[in-house]
Amino acid sequence: MTKKKATKKKVTKSTAKKKKTSKKKTTRTTSTHKLKPGMVFEYDPAPESSAVVSIKKKYELFIDGAWVAPESGKYLNNENPATEESLGKFAIGNEKDIDKAVKAARKAYEGEWGKMSGKDRGKYLFRIARILQERAREFAVLETLDGGKPIKESRDVDIPLAAAHFFYNAGWADKLEYVYPGKDVKSIGVCGQIIPWNFPLLMAAWKIAPALACGNTVVLKPAEQTPLTALLLAEVCQEAGLPKGVVNIVTGEGPTGAALVDHKDVNKVAFTGSTDIGKLIAKNIGHTNKKLTLELGGKSANIIFADAAIDQAIEGIINGIYFNQGHVCCAGSRLLVEESVHDIVVKKLKKRMSSLRVGDPMDKNTDIGAINHKEQLVKIKEMVAQAKKGGADFHQADVKVPRKGYYHAPCFFDNCSTSDMIVRDEVFGPVLSIMTFRTPEEAIVKANDTQYGLAAGIWSEKGSKVHQVAGGLKAGVIWANTYNKFDPTSPFGGYKESGFGREGGRHGLLPYLEVK
Ligand code: NAI
Ligand code: MG
Repeated sequence: MTKKKATKKKVTKSTAKKKKTSKKKTTRTTSTHKLKPGMVFEYDPAPESSAVVSIKKKYELFIDGAWVAPESGKYLNNENPATEESLGKFAIGNEKDIDKAVKAARKAYEGEWGKMSGKDRGKYLFRIARILQERAREFAVLETLDGGKPIKESRDVDIPLAAAHFFYNAGWADKLEYVYPGKDVKSIGVCGQIIPWNFPLLMAAWKIAPALACGNTVVLKPAEQTPLTALLLAEVCQEAGLPKGVVNIVTGEGPTGAALVDHKDVNKVAFTGSTDIGKLIAKNIGHTNKKLTLELGGKSANIIFADAAIDQAIEGIINGIYFNQGHVCCAGSRLLVEESVHDIVVKKLKKRMSSLRVGDPMDKNTDIGAINHKEQLVKIKEMVAQAKKGGADFHQADVKVPRKGYYHAPCFFDNCSTSDMIVRDEVFGPVLSIMTFRTPEEAIVKANDTQYGLAAGIWSEKGSKVHQVAGGLKAGVIWANTYNKFDPTSPFGGYKESGFGREGGRHGLLPYLEVK
């Protein structure tokens, strides 16, 4: 009896084990091909190799065509936000370093560069553009490692556009008499340029290329979170044989930027960054004759009419707010949907969001990479937590986010009202707020109800409606049936607290010239 029982027990155990194994097997086979809502199939990892770049242990300042140690002897650790690993140290420049750089820029301006013909200046810009293209892969990998943006964006957007800005401005260098038609123009001197961390190389190109085309020299201060591609650009300037002192790169934090703004021998300041610092700079140099352009924050409206091609509009919404993790000054962070299509738009948006791939920025399949740095992630999380208390409907894509590194799944707040904090304040993260409207007039009023005025998107099949609405919007850039498309021939800049001055196109040259 005891023996029989024992055998029975044994049999049961082994059957159970078999059952378990077979169940496990089935699950594994199906999971590879399992269709999630909105997803066609899972991709295998396709990581880009980081072997094309060599990260130095320590980066110095680039002044007067040479690499020099900072006067303070101080360096900061640079981080890869996707992995929290170190990417070496970079120098912190102080007033003395800024002074050296400005002096080098002045010497070059009064020397070889200032005397050079536009045609010859253009040749240097063309050379820089071509080297950027040749070394594009290196730049893309470095940009992604340093700032956490998906490699497909660095590769397809940031680096080609940066090269395009050099090409475009190279073409202007010997045609400056057409910038202000009928007037004689001259360069202005030494330009102090300060850039943020969201498009590090592209912002450097936006600033340096027109300044050089017009015959000026430059001291550039990259963002402390993302110094690497600007420093590689310094190498490119050397490779292109650019005369020393024409481009100087001084890394550091806020005080380094402030020293550059305050330097008495700087003729023009160009700043892209937060509205608070932009206001501070405007206040600090208001009493001087320095020229100033500011490209600041935004809370841009993406307006979807009922007659729009809804599936295309969904892609436009995704591109508008989730592109580059929402770290875009002109991000379409406020969605205005015509009431009659609100439900279908939200339903389709949720489905599309569930298929976004969030994770390793070096993977070629990744749609949403890492948040640029820890403080920004904290800011986003705090704003989302606060907005959740406000009563709007919260939805977050059910996507897996890596445990290490700084990540935030894409999300939105629906049924918001214009007074909600999440509708008014810039988040600079993958967070969308949704409101409805009934008439084009209401859409215009709601879109303009903001302190900012950088960009807007209009989605409608009807051209006359697009023109009517565009005419009423107070925004520097307006896209129709598309979003976040950039071109060096097209001026970019804001209204109201989004700043003043334009970058790109003929307008982008105006701040770098004086009428004689
Ligand atoms: P930020 O304005 O402090 O930094 C931008 C650049 O300005 C950096 O190079 C920084 O070192 C420099 N800087 C800081 N203080 C300065 C000063 N007193 N004088 C001169 N230069 C100075 O922006 P931050 O702290 O990186 O980001 C804060 C918020 O600003 C973000 O959450 C986002 O909302 C917004 N932002 C907007 C950008 C845009 O493209 N419009 C870009 C980056 C941030
Ligand atoms: Mg970094």
